[in-house]
Amino acid sequence: MDIRKRMDELINLINKYNEAYYQKNESLISDYDFDQLLNELQKLEDENPLFVLSDSPTKKVGGTITKQFKSVNHRFPMLSLGNTYNENDLKEFDSRIKKVLGDEKYEYICELKFDGVALSFWYENGKLIKGVTRGDGTRGDDITNNVKTIKSIPHYIADTSLPFEFELRGEGFMPNHIFEQINQDRILSGEPLLANPRNSASGTFKMQDSSVVAQRNLDCFIYAYLGFDNPFQTHEESLLKLTELGFPISPTWEKCTNIESVLAYIEKWAFVRNDLPLNTDGIVIKINDFGQQERLGFTAKSPRWAISFKYPSEIAKTEILSISYQVGRTGNITPVANLNPVYLAGTMIKRASIHNANEMNRLDLHEGDTVLVEKGGEIIPKITGVDMSLRKPEKTKFAFPTNCPDCQSELVRVEGEANHYCMNDSKCPTQIKGKIEHFIQRKALNIENLGVETIDLLFEKSLIKDASDLYSLTSLDFIGLEGFQSKSIQNILNSVEQSKTIPFRKVLFGLGIRHVGATIAEKLVIEFKSIRNIMSASYEELIAVPEIGDRIALSIISYFSKTENLEFIERLHSSSVQLSEEISELEQESTSLEGKSFVISGVFQNFDRDGLKDKIVLNGGKVVSSISAKLDYLIAGDNMGPSKLEKANQLSIKIINEEEFINLLNKYAN
Ligand code: IVH
Repeated sequence: MDIRKRMDELINLINKYNEAYYQKNESLISDYDFDQLLNELQKLEDENPLFVLSDSPTKKVGGTITKQFKSVNHRFPMLSLGNTYNENDLKEFDSRIKKVLGDEKYEYICELKFDGVALSFWYENGKLIKGVTRGDGTRGDDITNNVKTIKSIPHYIADTSLPFEFELRGEGFMPNHIFEQINQDRILSGEPLLANPRNSASGTFKMQDSSVVAQRNLDCFIYAYLGFDNPFQTHEESLLKLTELGFPISPTWEKCTNIESVLAYIEKWAFVRNDLPLNTDGIVIKINDFGQQERLGFTAKSPRWAISFKYPSEIAKTEILSISYQVGRTGNITPVANLNPVYLAGTMIKRASIHNANEMNRLDLHEGDTVLVEKGGEIIPKITGVDMSLRKPEKTKFAFPTNCPDCQSELVRVEGEANHYCMNDSKCPTQIKGKIEHFIQRKALNIENLGVETIDLLFEKSLIKDASDLYSLTSLDFIGLEGFQSKSIQNILNSVEQSKTIPFRKVLFGLGIRHVGATIAEKLVIEFKSIRNIMSASYEELIAVPEIGDRIALSIISYFSKTENLEFIERLHSSSVQLSEEISELEQESTSLEGKSFVISGVFQNFDRDGLKDKIVLNGGKVVSSISAKLDYLIAGDNMGPSKLEKANQLSIKIINEEEFINLLNKYAN
């Protein structure tokens, strides 16, 4: 084999997986397989030092930095940990420690390895001043405003025994029940599902609007204290003190005096860890004494005084019986494998998701294949491979359907998206029923007393063709339908009537425009106030709204370009459904900034940019993007652009900082 070629191949693969993981939050490969590739490359590099590239992935910690947030240098690099997968690897780690420490006694602290997002918290004078992501290990993103939404992290500690400046490291995560709730909501709003809690946490921490982040109830476990001036002798001491000060330290850690008790810890948590509110993918073993840690030191990528042990992810083998294709409310087609039932991680698995056609092709699934089903970080098990030795040669490959399994119309693959869609959204029965169910749900028009079965029945009997027909139902329509008493009919009609008072933001969500969930609907209403304004908004006006990007804007434009949707809205209008809402009803705070215009520049301590914009608008002011002689104020944050400053000075515009802005608000408010 050509060694150099193989090394190039490995580097390309590893870089590709790293990029997907760090930039797009996508895991294209299991941690185990990734480590196998990295180990193979490391081995080839050790044996062939002449071929080693200076930017080889074996020399790097992780990915690169996303551009949206201000990036900051870490004061201490955020390193990764070496991985082990078995007892032998662990014993070797222990021998390496013994070799360096000689006759000295040493202890380990064992902790669970939390599967979330590495975060760094900077404290100064007892105050939390920064929250930073790991980024590439050397520079990370400043996500202070988002980190401050974690309720368990103190923003201030009154204790004077800690140094003026110190740093904590921890794992930010999305509790599993929050993740499941978000996906439930996404099913209802027809948005693509989040893959797993880790990706969801990572995506949420990078959101621009911290008020949305706050709604997601992210949490964190702190696992390290760092500082130039360290008041602790041991990691244990630091954990105890931080616990006493109210920091979120998971009580699952234990002190172990030898490698045997480390192995016992691993065994103890192998199953119980599944009962925790977050995913854990292994354990971390750390030398307890800080002096010994210092002597053991670091390699280029990771400490020599710590290592992680990864639990094998649970895998089952079973036969694939068939593939069903589900039609979503927005016409998206999802392949789902029906399996010969098999036990996996404590539950009986009958179905597994395959996500989309790309994934089906990657797996090269054939009828009757024996597949590997894995329950990793994801809640829904997925098919990760095929046992080729059991493939029956006479069986054929599964083909993704060309037509909708319900209405038979031809499926379309949207440019740039992995999903296939049934575009027959006004006639495909599954889509129509899904849209009506979406319309009546609690978060939308909240039409109680009307369940999925009733919708099905009314639809089958042609009493409703879409949700607007609900408003013309009368008690006569129910005559001859089984299971309806006059009381239940009246209840249905009453809640339909009641839904005419539901505020527009919920109606907008209820329309079921692809990618427009409840939060986006609210943002649209704050900005545009009525359906007429949204309909006539241009692409530029739409993407100027916080949180609305290209994908959502195009989806909104496409929705309103269809005659049947416009007619549907017209019918809702004539039934007196709310199609406008004044911002004052939403959350107008005051009129203290009325008539004043502002330009915002730079980065702020108390607000993110969207938060500051909202504050101005909610108090009657106007935010504009460029400086002109008519401008009233330039609010200057850290690192603002010099050209803006110069122009404002030239035109003698009043330049105020964040504090002065807050004073301004209060002054006019009084
Ligand atoms: S200590 C020098 N302790 O694992 C690195 N890390 O590969 C010291 N992690 O992304 C890390 N739980 O965020 C440590 N109890 C724990 C951990 C933990 C999860 C993550 C960490 C980092 C990765 C290290």
